[in-house]
Amino acid sequence: MALPHVRGGIRFDSVGFSYEDGRPVLHQVDLEVEPGETLAIVGMTGSGKTTLVSLLPRLYDVSEGRVCIDGHDVRDLTLSSLRSGIAVAFEDPVLFSASVRENLLLGAPTATDEELEHALAITQCGFVDDLPWGLDTRIGEQGLSLSGGQRQRLALARAVIARPRVLVLDDPLSALDVHTEARVHAAMHGVLADVTTLVVVHRPSTLAVADRVAFLHGGRIAATGSHTELLQSVPAYRAVLSREVEEMAR
Ligand SMILES: Nc1ncnc2c1ncn2[C@@H]1O[C@H](COP(=O)(O)OP(=O)(O)OP(=O)(O)O)[C@@H](O)[C@H]1O
Ligand SMILES: [Mg+2]
Repeated sequence: MALPHVRGGIRFDSVGFSYEDGRPVLHQVDLEVEPGETLAIVGMTGSGKTTLVSLLPRLYDVSEGRVCIDGHDVRDLTLSSLRSGIAVAFEDPVLFSASVRENLLLGAPTATDEELEHALAITQCGFVDDLPWGLDTRIGEQGLSLSGGQRQRLALARAVIARPRVLVLDDPLSALDVHTEARVHAAMHGVLADVTTLVVVHRPSTLAVADRVAFLHGGRIAATGSHTELLQSVPAYRAVLSREVEEMAR
């Protein structure tokens, strides 16, 4: 079926996942995200964060259990309607060999230049104005090559322009310096307010945007709660975040 009007409630129901038979990377994951809520996912490298968020837009399908959006199993929905309701921005974004404008319009073909400018402002993409042909500058393999941080911000702008009900962000700002990252967060606040968001987070600073945190450990949800609660009650959570801070300092 096509996904009707999306409210954005998400549920993971006893979800298990293996890339290879007999080697599960997610076990019995139960998670509920309310419409409009921003849930951060924190965990050590390899704990299954990217895998978990990939199940929602069906980059992979669950091996056990189910993932639901507004009560519908995502496998019962047409891919096109599922993916038009969900926008994604991943750490290593895919940009096409085309102009900046064409890349941005992929998410929202009818967006006006004004809407593009607005999304570029939110995501701190001022650098686009300095490109030789602005929005018409070709990027990607046959065009101008952009830095990792610029690519990430454009991918985020593309997700914002799509005005999704559900946003999946996998460490989308890892290549940014902390100051630019903080500016993106401040500006994203309004955007995220009524969008259901799953965001994989490495830096403690990014947790500022989250209403709630799920701590993933060895493919299981080890704890959920506010950042402050988890800091106080889950030593492994503290350890993961302090390790990230040390790596940033290097
Ligand atoms: N395409 C794949 N094929 C086989 N195994 C995979 C694949 N992608 C990930 N894995 C394995 O699944 C486990 C979870 O990986 P995942 O990428 O979800 O972790 P992560 O928490 O996102 O890590 P990171 O913080 O490094 O991004 C890891 O053991 C990883 O090696
Ligand atoms: Mg990952």
